[in-house]
Amino acid sequence: MEKYIDNAVEQFRELLTQQIARQQKMEKEREVTDFSALKKIVIGICTGDGIGPIISAESNRLIKILLKDEIESGRVEIKVIEGLTIENRIAKNKAIPDDVLEEIKKCNVILKAPTTTLKGGTLESANVAMRRELDLYANVRPVCLPEENIDWTFFRENTEGEYVLGSKGVEIPDTLAFDFKVTTNAGTKRIARAAFEYAKNNGKTKVAIVTKANIMKKTDGKFSEICHEVAKDYPDITADEWYIDIMTANLVNTKIRSDFQVFLMPNLYGDIITDEAAQIQGGVGTAGSANIGDKYAMFEPIHGSAPRMIEQGIGNYANPTSIFKATEMMLNHIGFKNQANRLNKALSICTETEKKVIVTGDTDGATCKEFSDYLMETIEKL
Ligand code: IPM
Ligand code: MG
Repeated sequence: MEKYIDNAVEQFRELLTQQIARQQKMEKEREVTDFSALKKIVIGICTGDGIGPIISAESNRLIKILLKDEIESGRVEIKVIEGLTIENRIAKNKAIPDDVLEEIKKCNVILKAPTTTLKGGTLESANVAMRRELDLYANVRPVCLPEENIDWTFFRENTEGEYVLGSKGVEIPDTLAFDFKVTTNAGTKRIARAAFEYAKNNGKTKVAIVTKANIMKKTDGKFSEICHEVAKDYPDITADEWYIDIMTANLVNTKIRSDFQVFLMPNLYGDIITDEAAQIQGGVGTAGSANIGDKYAMFEPIHGSAPRMIEQGIGNYANPTSIFKATEMMLNHIGFKNQANRLNKALSICTETEKKVIVTGDTDGATCKEFSDYLMETIEKL
């Protein structure tokens, strides 16, 4: 037992040193990409695995329609990046194999299809690795349900909390397991700033800070304290604080849920509550998400690679709406607002008003390709 304890103490020392270094690096000056100043924007499409290649092929087709002129003039280039498959990642024993990461870093933005995340073991999730490698600290997830007056935007801290050392826990066989959760000052400040800036720039009046600071006293305590400090710079915005348990209940409380606007929270709570919110909107297949850093940004569906659909042979019935929503967010982020608006209009015609072709994620609905054709025809008509 002493040996286990010594090893764990040594490991903790190392992790602490690395995390202090990460916090200090974040405190330094930030390099922010100005997309409007870039002569050429390289969009990398990571095709992923499971239903990833099926839905990302349709997004590739969609981007080529929406950015036809920009691609022709050389302002935009699309690079398809394969190799983020679970098979390749297992073979190389790397969350993101080195050559794939190198290709990703040559792009300015990434549209990422789902990649399989293994339970247990030591192979880290590709999402988590990409968020860390590209320092994509703000996970922004909008959820709208106009008929219920719901217009929510979630700001999930994306580089620390329960995730940063999620594959670096300690286990003493037949005795116990120990994981770590990390909250840094700089990491919290930057996500809080992103949420309040968003609120300010989009006419929002309230930000709900969501923690479990009554239990996770150190980490969530710090998160809460720093968010309130940042809030002082935004006197026109009300900062409320809620615990995550009651907030999950609030989202299904139809009397009050439409009062919420912007949510700000640590990583794991954000992961869980955004699936709940997406379900309220119509399912995880309908929600896109942005992973924003200062230099890079990555856009993806909020759902996983749906290996069960592939096993059942119904992968071609996957719903591409979430990756289309992610594509819309990406177009907005890199400065193509008109094209993003066109896509937004077409999506709302196809999924809310006209609904001529409906995907259910099963054989009783349309295929991914049929829905995509419908969307692209709708875009051409706008
Ligand atoms: C998400 C996903 C990922 C996460 C998984 C696939 C690692 O659930 O983007 O919400 O937990 O962040
Ligand atoms: Mg999730």
